[in-house]
Amino acid sequence: MSANPIDIAVLETVAPLYERVKKVIPEIEWPVHAPDIAAINALKKEKNAVILAHNYQTPEIYHCVADITGDSLALAQRAVDTDADVIVLAGVHFMAETAKLLNPKKTVLIPDLGAGCSLAESITAADVRKLREQYPGVPVVTYVNTSAEVKAECDICCTSGNALAIVESLGSDRVIFLPDEYLASYVAEQTDVEIVTWQGHCEVHERFSADELESFRSGHDELTIIAHPECPPDVLETADFVGSTAQMQDYVVNERPAKVLMVTECSMSDNVSAGIDDVEFIRPCNLCPHMKKITLANIRASLETLSPSVEIDPEVAGRARKSVERMLAVGRSKITEVAA
Ligand code: 13P
Ligand code: SF4
Repeated sequence: MSANPIDIAVLETVAPLYERVKKVIPEIEWPVHAPDIAAINALKKEKNAVILAHNYQTPEIYHCVADITGDSLALAQRAVDTDADVIVLAGVHFMAETAKLLNPKKTVLIPDLGAGCSLAESITAADVRKLREQYPGVPVVTYVNTSAEVKAECDICCTSGNALAIVESLGSDRVIFLPDEYLASYVAEQTDVEIVTWQGHCEVHERFSADELESFRSGHDELTIIAHPECPPDVLETADFVGSTAQMQDYVVNERPAKVLMVTECSMSDNVSAGIDDVEFIRPCNLCPHMKKITLANIRASLETLSPSVEIDPEVAGRARKSVERMLAVGRSKITEVAA
């Protein structure tokens, strides 16, 4: 492919960014991304916008246009701090809703409103009300992978990075934990609190099996397996480490295993390996079709048109916000303890 003179100018502008992704994006592919990357970075300045990207976004988004990257907890925490007028959430709908709950006066954009989540779709507000009738007085914890309507019916949110701390912060013998059955059973193994579960599953992580992982272990000496807690229990038992996407990333960066298999969405290994030379990544993975709805093209269109924006009914938002803020308050008090 030969570049015209305009393309060459664009390629020069974004050349330093290619250095960040050259291990995971072939050189021949870069001219396809470069014009959108240059346009998005200019639009961010023009509109005083910030891009928050989840760890499952593709490398050209994650490394070349995002201002803040992280797991669901980090994205919620950082959404509170920003002084930008516009937040673009490169992730799925519940993440954009969480950012809007914490920034009701700002414009929060999600480049594709159809970027959902099988966990969020597994439960409704009416389901939570029924559970409350069934278990009167039992506090309800909801994973952030839920709609604002569901968060509004719950006492407090959690993420995969703080689920155990949130459950134990309630001081109750029994807690209803929604909607991820596998994350709930992983928490239950580590606490004396009795956990009432719901049968929601992540369509990406539930497809991994312990047999699949064992066959990778027998084919690779010194293989370290790290898994997300949305995986089924037998997969988590096979893993050497279990954590949120940010905790998985920290594990690889700090521990430098010789060979690692990240049991999670495919872009994780791409994004982490882009900056690491001394770890071999073994890459069976499953794609999240929702995360992959976000592209450079629709991020650019979203910034150009300031749409689609996330809107939440104010009455629902008021109650849902309390669940998110209670979670962040537990996180903040933990951070203070460590610093003291
Ligand atoms: P994290 O909070 O660990 O990033 O998980 C979010 C998610 O959707 C994983 O499937
Ligand atoms: Fe939802 Fe699973 Fe996709 Fe995460 S990976 S957004 S839990 S469907």
